[in-house]
Amino acid sequence: MPGESVRPLERGLAVLRALAVAEQVRAGDLVRATGLARSTVDRVVATLARLGYVREHGQELHLTPRLMELGNAYLAASGLSGEVAARTARLADKLDESVSLAVPDGDGVRFVTQAARRRAMSVAFRIGDLLPAERCAPGALFAAEWDEAAWAAWRARVAADPEGHAFPALPPGPAPLPSDLTGRVERSRATGWALDDQLIEPGLIAAAVPVRDAAGRPRYALSAVSHTSRHTAQGLAELVLPRLREEAAHLESLPPAPSPYGEAELTPGQPVDAVDAVDAKAELGPGFLQSLARGLGVLRALGRAGGDGLPLTAIAAATGLPRATARRCLHTLELEGYAAHDGRLYRPLPRIMELGYARLSRLGFADIAEPHLRQLTDRVHQSASVTVLDGTDILYVARAATVRVMSVYITLGTRFPAYPTAMGRVLLAGLPQEDRARLLKAEPPRPLTRRTVTAPADLNRILDRAAADGYATADEELEEGLRSVAVPLKDAEERVVAALNVAQHAGTAPLDETVGALLPALRETAAAIEADLHTAARFNGVLMP
Ligand code: PHB
Repeated sequence: MPGESVRPLERGLAVLRALAVAEQVRAGDLVRATGLARSTVDRVVATLARLGYVREHGQELHLTPRLMELGNAYLAASGLSGEVAARTARLADKLDESVSLAVPDGDGVRFVTQAARRRAMSVAFRIGDLLPAERCAPGALFAAEWDEAAWAAWRARVAADPEGHAFPALPPGPAPLPSDLTGRVERSRATGWALDDQLIEPGLIAAAVPVRDAAGRPRYALSAVSHTSRHTAQGLAELVLPRLREEAAHLESLPPAPSPYGEAELTPGQPVDAVDAVDAKAELGPGFLQSLARGLGVLRALGRAGGDGLPLTAIAAATGLPRATARRCLHTLELEGYAAHDGRLYRPLPRIMELGYARLSRLGFADIAEPHLRQLTDRVHQSASVTVLDGTDILYVARAATVRVMSVYITLGTRFPAYPTAMGRVLLAGLPQEDRARLLKAEPPRPLTRRTVTAPADLNRILDRAAADGYATADEELEEGLRSVAVPLKDAEERVVAALNVAQHAGTAPLDETVGALLPALRETAAAIEADLHTAARFNGVLMP
């Protein structure tokens, strides 16, 4: 029934996998890793760049946080939600140990949530990381469901790769203690939980319980992770099992994720996952691989599958593609291990997360902002920075400086009082009134230059105005000769989490002119940073400074 596969989609996926495994990748590396011709690699990269999934920095190619929307499609369809992730974090607080949720993925275990305790000896796995079943607690729970073919595939893999080189998240070298997977499966069948006593690295221990679906199959493993400096493996299990079981029962009682795109509400005519392929094609001509763009659109559309999956009609409607085209893309995604179908319903598979999710989920807020700051600096030829509020100060967390004889010299970690700075003003303006008042009282404004505004009533007027206008300025109020314009950076809930500015010498131009020249670029940059931040933080949050 299914037709042939979509070659440009296959090639695009191969390039994304190659980009995901290494830190610094150039086009030549992709040629070697994929076996594709250089001209093909160039077209794939140009298409991925046009889709915003790859960024070129000199000769180097980098995956962008936007690519996380592919893994997010799997996470959304799997029923994970911000609420489930938040519960995991609360459980970690209660237990005072790291807690994770993982799903079965072939003969591996893939993390979908991690709530880590930050300790000197702490777990380094991230969302999207894959561990071999024989070397972690969840593996024994999931392997209990394997059929003969799955066991045979596992044996072949272990024989071919005993140290797990195919699992980049594993520390190099053999396991500190041997793992008897079949014995551990038998034990976990008898007890209903599984233990990892230093199967990954010396000292690392974990206990896991299954979270079952309606059919009784383990859908997730819920693990608590610790270190032998705190507990023995058995001691950890005794301590955490009651709480893990209680939480697993709660997760099992949640209704299955509703499909936001069920057949009943199909509204053809408004494709939501269509790519602006017409523009891109006009712009890049044969350099744009339309069927790669369409295939990735189909993959994203699978994120609308609730519990059971999506019918072809819904996928065609969501992408604006003819059914035959959507079906060929789905067939290709199935061959690549990223989608499955069950009767007439299609759903995404966890392997999608191998397309860069683990690498990208390690990025902190500053890593996400930095490439955008560089672009802004290239555009306006002035230094750009991002700060957060820390008490009554602003704290520099990301920055791109220009090379000029006279440039504003500030390094990461620099602090200034918030009240006489443009960034401090957008940050204070984003606070609830009580917090704003408390901070202005905590450090009474002092005149730092002839022009510093210090009267509380005047400052409050400036802050109200910043909140209303969505930007703030400071003109020689922190330092003579220094002028700055700033805009807020907001999270998906519209809370101001940081500020973005451009600072320059005051010069002779009136302030209005500087604002007019800088504000459009500042706003576009803020929107681009926010879009990346919202994609990266959709399920698991982003590490803020
Ligand atoms: C983890 O969440 O990092 C984890 C879970 C289970 C293990 C090991 C690590 O067996």
